[in-house]
Amino acid sequence: MTQLSIDASPWWQSATGYQIYPRSFCDTNGDGIGDIPGIIAKLDHLRDLGIGFIWLSPVYRSPMADNGYDISDYRDIAPEFGTLADFDRLVAEASARGIRIVMDLVVNHSSSDHAWFHAARASRDAPEHDYYVWRDPAPDGGPPNGHQACFGGSAWTWVPEVGQYYLGHFSPHQPDLNWQNPSLRREIYDMMNWWFDRGIAGFRMDVISLIGKDVDAGLYEEGPYLHGFLQDMHREVLEGRDSVTVGESWAVSTDTALLYCGRDRRELDMVFQFNHVVEGWDPVHGKWKPRPFDLVAFKRVLNDWQAALANDGWNSLFLSNHDLPRQVSKYGDDGAYRVKSAKMLATVMHLMKGTPFVYQGEEIGMTNAAFTRIDQFRDVETLGHYAEEIARGVSPEAFIAGANANGRDNARTPMQWTGGTNAGFTDGTPWIEVNPNHGQVNVEADRADPNGVFAHYKELIALRKSWPAMVHGTYRPVAEEDGSVFAYLRELNGVRLAVVANFKGEDTQFDVPDALRGSGRCLISNDIPRERLDGRITLKPFEAFVLSIGG
Ligand code: NOJ
Repeated sequence: MTQLSIDASPWWQSATGYQIYPRSFCDTNGDGIGDIPGIIAKLDHLRDLGIGFIWLSPVYRSPMADNGYDISDYRDIAPEFGTLADFDRLVAEASARGIRIVMDLVVNHSSSDHAWFHAARASRDAPEHDYYVWRDPAPDGGPPNGHQACFGGSAWTWVPEVGQYYLGHFSPHQPDLNWQNPSLRREIYDMMNWWFDRGIAGFRMDVISLIGKDVDAGLYEEGPYLHGFLQDMHREVLEGRDSVTVGESWAVSTDTALLYCGRDRRELDMVFQFNHVVEGWDPVHGKWKPRPFDLVAFKRVLNDWQAALANDGWNSLFLSNHDLPRQVSKYGDDGAYRVKSAKMLATVMHLMKGTPFVYQGEEIGMTNAAFTRIDQFRDVETLGHYAEEIARGVSPEAFIAGANANGRDNARTPMQWTGGTNAGFTDGTPWIEVNPNHGQVNVEADRADPNGVFAHYKELIALRKSWPAMVHGTYRPVAEEDGSVFAYLRELNGVRLAVVANFKGEDTQFDVPDALRGSGRCLISNDIPRERLDGRITLKPFEAFVLSIGG
């Protein structure tokens, strides 16, 4: 890439994103639930980290069946999170610190409590009836087909008032919106423009690959109408804006990615893909029965994505979010090597080509929860699948072990600000238990440690701003079959960055491939800095470093 095209590159390519799950971030009114004033109170923490934008999980009005991914008013804020005035203040206060706000757009479905759905379920003649997906019963009176909801049970719910079933792909509380209806689409575009007018910088689009579904053909993910709708949305909302959009898709593959984010498509800027996550799931029991981590397979997925979007499109880089386990527990070691492996994972992810996303608490190496009873879980998905898996013969202990490894509540335990009561998250009773390790793992302690996880993230984010090769350099994987080491080269205009990371908690021999040979300046390391890469080297447990190597 030439200097000219780098200068013209969009802001979100060199920025780092930070995801906030508001319910678990910081509570200022003692109700045990995080809120927008709490986010404002912690903005200096994020400014110090150096992030460029916040992806805010939903703060809209909602009955919270799925913690806000079930919206009952797209133009208001949930009272437990605050008010529109609080939101405006957040945008202004964040902007004063150089941070933009990206909202979550949840428009595959609304809440069953949305006024549209109230009208829709009352009468077939209401204009809003067609805003949702209805089907007549099967000849035996049962659901139109056997489609199962993501959170358990049938995806179809009977409504006697209209004598039809509606589709809730996730749950009955989340009826699917019918994107075929032009008035519905208009409502959504107007709402998006309304938020842009309030000063937001973009949208993360929840399960966006579902909106083009053809229910009768059994096509849900990446259905036949998807890209037409996204191009329509681009024309009506995004065209000409200096915004960022990231579409979540559990179905997107390297074969389809550029249909969303290729430069000529005029749809989205990036996708959140999950191929590397699903790689670790059981084919039958899914996330509830994790497969042992396989570094070679994991690298293959990420390397393939790097190759697929090398010259067009742009990767999002993440291991964690509010639906996934804590990355240090999943891919690193949350025991003796917690700090070191958290830094190793950060180094590997931030040095790839794409925009990195940090999930709240990741910057201090927060770990998974270790619940022992099902009543400690809060997540609608975990609770929905518990019954189904037990009926399948899985023991409660085995299910809970799976949920502790991969369940969504791991990421949702409160942010650990201090070692004090409730980790400084709330003065009240937290809506979900605080991780008992907050005495050791908390923002106050970690930030006070010059060798803490926060310091490492801060350094990575700062490096990104001064090393264009880190943002725009080509990506070349090496040692792809090595089961212990993740290594690659980034290169731009003669600058070569060698990235080496040991995924094992033991000394590991690594034969330096030709492409990484050289000596130079160590940009960042979680161990004794190295200056030379050559021959066979011994990597320390979870050691990771970046070397700028001379010719
Ligand atoms: C994906 C979101 O990330 C998840 O939290 C939510 O439950 C589903 N979409 C349904 O909105």
